Amino acid sequence: MRRIAVFTSGGDAPGMNAGVRAVVRSANREGLHVFGIYRGYQGMIEGEIKRLENEHVRNIIHRGGTILKTARSKDFMNKEGRQRAFDQLNAFDIDGVIAIGGNGTFTGADIFTKEFGIPFIGMPGTIDNDLYGTDYTIGFDTAVNTAVDAIDKIRDTADSHNRLFFIEVMGRHSGYIALHTGIATGASGVLIPEKAKDTAGLIRTLKKAASRKKLFSLVVVAEGDEEGGAIGIANKVKEQFDDFEVKVSIIGHLQRGGSPTCQDRILASRLGHASVQALLAGRKSEMAGLVNNQVIFTPFAECISQEKIMSKDMMDITEILAMG
Ligand code: F6P
Repeated sequence: MRRIAVFTSGGDAPGMNAGVRAVVRSANREGLHVFGIYRGYQGMIEGEIKRLENEHVRNIIHRGGTILKTARSKDFMNKEGRQRAFDQLNAFDIDGVIAIGGNGTFTGADIFTKEFGIPFIGMPGTIDNDLYGTDYTIGFDTAVNTAVDAIDKIRDTADSHNRLFFIEVMGRHSGYIALHTGIATGASGVLIPEKAKDTAGLIRTLKKAASRKKLFSLVVVAEGDEEGGAIGIANKVKEQFDDFEVKVSIIGHLQRGGSPTCQDRILASRLGHASVQALLAGRKSEMAGLVNNQVIFTPFAECISQEKIMSKDMMDITEILAMG
């Protein structure tokens, strides 16, 4: 292992830059040559590969987004595209690759290593926190803090006008951002895909709250909730419960940007360092994750196929604490 490459792929996540920095500095320390692949798998196919020295990753630990850019590559999904990517890695004599991304990124990496033999190690980089094999993904904590900050502001206006707000957060098919944000903002309800739909239960909670002179309410909705996001559930509730004026707010891509929190910077730094060590130790097709504050490695195949089980305690808390 003499020459390694690092890239970011899929949706960007705050902390990816801290991860790239950790890979570059840890690898250089080991005497490896490090290369950055720009624009994810698409850049790999098109040969957008440049040497990264320690000074190239100066002043990025606090920056959101990814200096390496990112893309969701369709070309890499077919064999011809992957062959072109392999030819490019070969041209640069790359012996191992570190991929920072989510499910799609690791699916591609797993196939690629089986086809061409170049070892890949993954770092979980997605705001969704939907990856098995790590308690938290890089970017999740920042996204939750951004959503909490936005909802604290919405709370002010909801309170002033006595309104019921349905606030939609990201997460694709996962409700982790909604669950954590809901608890942290004291929401009256949290709707997530992991929990069976219960519009009637939500309406009962809102009615009870109204009868106890709770004059405004906040409900956090995961975009992947089966009720059809915040707009869908707001329309259903409006039909059956007109005590409040109902408003919808979709936080959207705000959650993807901004300076990473301390937690995300540390997570990315630890996993970046561990990923370099893993390549040097001959590991491949595994993701570095943090479980119970210990770095562990989980095969890509498991990260992709296994479901990350959401804590029942956390789900229960949202209901118990909602009774204001
Ligand atoms: O996976 C991260 C994520 O932000 C999801 O939460 C969201 O569903 C999706 O990406 C949005 O993707 P795009 O930025 O391509 O619209």
